[in-house]
Amino acid sequence: MEGEISWVSHCVDNFESSTAGFDSFSELNEETDREVAVVSMDLILPDDLLERILSYLPIASIFRAGCVCKRWQEIVTSKRFLWNSSHVLSQKPWYFMFTSSDDPIGYAYDPILRKWYGIDLPCIEKSNWFIASSCGLVCFMDNDSRSELYVCNPITKCCKGLDEPPGPKFPDYSALAVSVNRATQSYNVSVVKSKQVPENFFQWDLSVHLYDSETMAWATTLSEILTGWRAGDESVICDGVLYFLIYSIGGGGPDNRHGLVMYNLRSRSPHSLLMRSFVPVPCSLTCGRLMNLKEKLVMVGGIGKFDRPGIIKGIGIWLLKGREWQEIARMPHKYFQGFGELDDVFASSGTGDLIYIQSYGAPALLVFDMNQKHWKWSQKCPVIKRFPLQLFTGFCFDPRLQIAP
Ligand SMILES: *[C@@H]1O[C@H](CO)[C@@H](O)[C@H](O)[C@H]1NC(C)=O
Ligand SMILES: *[C@@H]1O[C@H](CO)[C@@H](O)[C@H](O)[C@H]1NC(C)=O
Ligand SMILES: *[C@@H]1O[C@H](CO)[C@@H](O)[C@H](O)[C@H]1NC(C)=O
Repeated sequence: MEGEISWVSHCVDNFESSTAGFDSFSELNEETDREVAVVSMDLILPDDLLERILSYLPIASIFRAGCVCKRWQEIVTSKRFLWNSSHVLSQKPWYFMFTSSDDPIGYAYDPILRKWYGIDLPCIEKSNWFIASSCGLVCFMDNDSRSELYVCNPITKCCKGLDEPPGPKFPDYSALAVSVNRATQSYNVSVVKSKQVPENFFQWDLSVHLYDSETMAWATTLSEILTGWRAGDESVICDGVLYFLIYSIGGGGPDNRHGLVMYNLRSRSPHSLLMRSFVPVPCSLTCGRLMNLKEKLVMVGGIGKFDRPGIIKGIGIWLLKGREWQEIARMPHKYFQGFGELDDVFASSGTGDLIYIQSYGAPALLVFDMNQKHWKWSQKCPVIKRFPLQLFTGFCFDPRLQIAP
C-alpha cells in the first residue's frame, strides 16, 4: 500500500526506481534526476567538499543520500557531520499527523519540500499521549498514569526515559511543556498538575513540577489552591516563563471561561500567587492553544459566538505583549469553511515562524506563516479517512539532526 511506505524503505527503494507512490505526495518530481547528477560528481570530490555539499540537502534527502554508498553513509552518520550540518540547514518546523485514534502511526510534513514522510516515532505508544516539543526534542507523557515520560529526537530516534514526576498521582488534568536551551542543549520539562480538592467543587490543587536535564532531577516548584478555576492540558514555556490556560468552574460570564496565568521558572517563587498574573483571553474562546514562536507567547483560539460561546465563528491568532493581546491574524473565511465550521476544538501548534492548524475530524492541515502573514493548505496527507468518526491530531517539531536528549 502506498500509504505504508516508510522513511527507511523509501530510502532503499529510491535508487532502484523512482518510487512512484512516494513521489506522488510531492510537488517536486525532478529530485531523482538531480540526485543522479550528484552521484557522478562523487568520483572527483574529496571528503570535506562532499560533506559540505551533503550538508545543504534537506534532512530527508540526507538520510536517502546515506543509502547511495558506504562512503556517503559514513559521512552523513558521523558526529562531525551531524553537528556541522545543523548550522547550515535552514529547516522549517515539520508537522507530525496522527492518522488513527489509537496507535501513534502517522506522517511527518516538510513544508519546504511540501512532502509527507512515513516515519515511526520512538517511545510513544498511543496517539492520545501528551506531547510537547522544543528545538528538535519532543517529550511524550502517557495519558493513563501520567508517570511514563520520554524525551526523544524523532529524526534520529534517540530517546531517553525520565523518572516519574512528583506530585499527586492520577491528577485530573496535566499539562506538559519542554524548553531547550540552544546554546547548552540542556532542557527543562514541566508538568502542571490539577486535582480537585476532595468534596470541594470550587477548589483545585495546582502544582508545577520541573525537570532539569543538568541535574537529571525533578523539583516541585509551586503548589497552590485555586478557587473557581482549574488548569487543563495547555501549557508552554517561552523565555523562562511557563504559561498555561486556566478554565473557570461554573460561574463567570461567557467571556470569562478561559484565562492565562504565568509562572517564572527562573525566579521559581514557591508562593507566587498565580492569580496575580492572570490575563483574560482576548474574546470568548471555544478552545485555546499556546505556542512558543521565537520565545514569544502566541495563542491560536476558536472564537466563540457572543451569545452562544460554545459555537465557533472563526479562528484567531494573538501574540501576548506584556499583558495585552495583539491580534496577528484571523483565518480567512474560505479556509475556515474548509475546516468544517462546526469543529469548536482543533489541534494547533507552531514554532519558529510557522503555525499549523488541524481539525480533529479530517487530515486537512493549514499552515500560517507569521512573517509573510500567509495562509496555505499543506500538500494532501497520504492518508485515507477510513471511518466517519476517525480522529486526527498532531504536533509540530523542529527537524534537527544533532540534538539528543
Ligand atoms: C566541524 O567541521 C570542522 C571543519 O570542517 C571541524 O574542525 C570541527 O571539528 C567540526 N565540528 C564538530 C563538532 O565535529
Ligand atoms: C487524555 O485522555 C483523555 C480521556 O481519554 C482525553 O480526553 C484527553 O484529550 C487525552 N489527552 C491528550 C493530550 O490527548
Ligand atoms: C531549567 O530550569 C532551571 C531552574 O529554573 C534554570 O536554571 C535553567 O536555566 C533552565 N534550563 C532551560 C534549558 O531552560
